[in-house]
Amino acid sequence: MNNAASTAALAGVSTLRVGLGCMGMSEFYGPADDEANLRALHTAFALGYRHFDTADMYGRGANEQLLARFVGELGARRAEVLLATKVGIERLADGNIAANSRADYIQAACEASLRRLGVERIGLLYLHRKTPEVPIEETVGAMARLVEQGKVGALGLSEVSAATLERACKTAPIAALQSEYSLWSRDVEAAVLPMCRAHGVKLVAYSPLGRGFLTGAVSPATLAEGDLRRRLPRFQEDNFRANEALLAVVQGIAQALGCSTAQVALAWLLGKGDDVHAIPGSRREANMAANIAALGIRLSPIARRELDAAFAGGAVHGLRYPEALLKTVNV
Ligand SMILES: NC(=O)c1ccc[n+]([C@@H]2O[C@H](COP(=O)([O-])OP(=O)(O)OC[C@H]3O[C@@H](n4cnc5c(N)ncnc54)[C@H](OP(=O)(O)O)[C@@H]3O)[C@@H](O)[C@H]2O)c1
Repeated sequence: MNNAASTAALAGVSTLRVGLGCMGMSEFYGPADDEANLRALHTAFALGYRHFDTADMYGRGANEQLLARFVGELGARRAEVLLATKVGIERLADGNIAANSRADYIQAACEASLRRLGVERIGLLYLHRKTPEVPIEETVGAMARLVEQGKVGALGLSEVSAATLERACKTAPIAALQSEYSLWSRDVEAAVLPMCRAHGVKLVAYSPLGRGFLTGAVSPATLAEGDLRRRLPRFQEDNFRANEALLAVVQGIAQALGCSTAQVALAWLLGKGDDVHAIPGSRREANMAANIAALGIRLSPIARRELDAAFAGGAVHGLRYPEALLKTVNV
């Protein structure tokens, strides 16, 4: 597939820069309710969402199965949807997870995702995490064969370093790089975003609302038992309270504009350029509607400078992942 074909495969992404992150529907952010989630997915479609982001590991396949039910119910309109999934994180029997980007694993995992999703072709397939010792050429070579076989439309990588992305782009066309990017997680700005731009790769920002922190609606005390955020450094009480001073800046701008804090956080991200997309996760109609409406909000240069200054340098308290998980990113 050449670059033009890769871009065409992402038409849904390039016309609508806000997709729906579906992870929290099946795992990590509290109990799952598939019937309510199915209704939420149809609501999202009615609101204009066309890009739906999942992964084989979310709910151990349950999230992909949920999306299979959703696209199945769309009938002919399923052709409008860009289904993006990820492979490359194995769930081990002991409950731990491990990156696996070996060619044979990627091929088998993609085929399992196709079966679970109930589709003949995955619109956008990402490598979820790179195994440090597996050359990216091996992985992307396997992914490119999936494109040749007609099983995948376009290729993406998640949380890889700029150097890895550059090597990947020499192996096959890469349409998207998905990494954490938000007001409080700006690592990608140093090298990854410039590398994306050098190669015409779209940056898909995950956790664009800081896993809920940037909405002002989440607090450590209200998180369900087993919620992943209970284990994240920034959601530990001391860090969280310290970071609330930064949130106050976002809230002040939101108040002045007459919009929500979440919308300011998304508008800041979307204002980075047309090649930056966001996939906020939500299960609620009002929040999904507010998030997609952020496409119409423009922040003034003064507001952007205020936000940039507030979140600059070491202003954020706590790492975005625990140390052990940080070793799996920027590989
Ligand atoms: N590639 C990777 O390694 C990776 C890692 C993590 C996530 N992701 C992807 O990125 C997607 C989004 O990230 P995320 O879900 O971690 O974090 P997020 O989008 O930053 O935040 C989601 C949280 O914000 C809340 N929320 C959303 N919109 C809101 C609004 N307008 N007002 C108030 N609260 C709002 C949601 O709750 P409600 O449901 O109540 O709205 C949820 O608790 C995931 O679903 C997943 O697809 C990828």
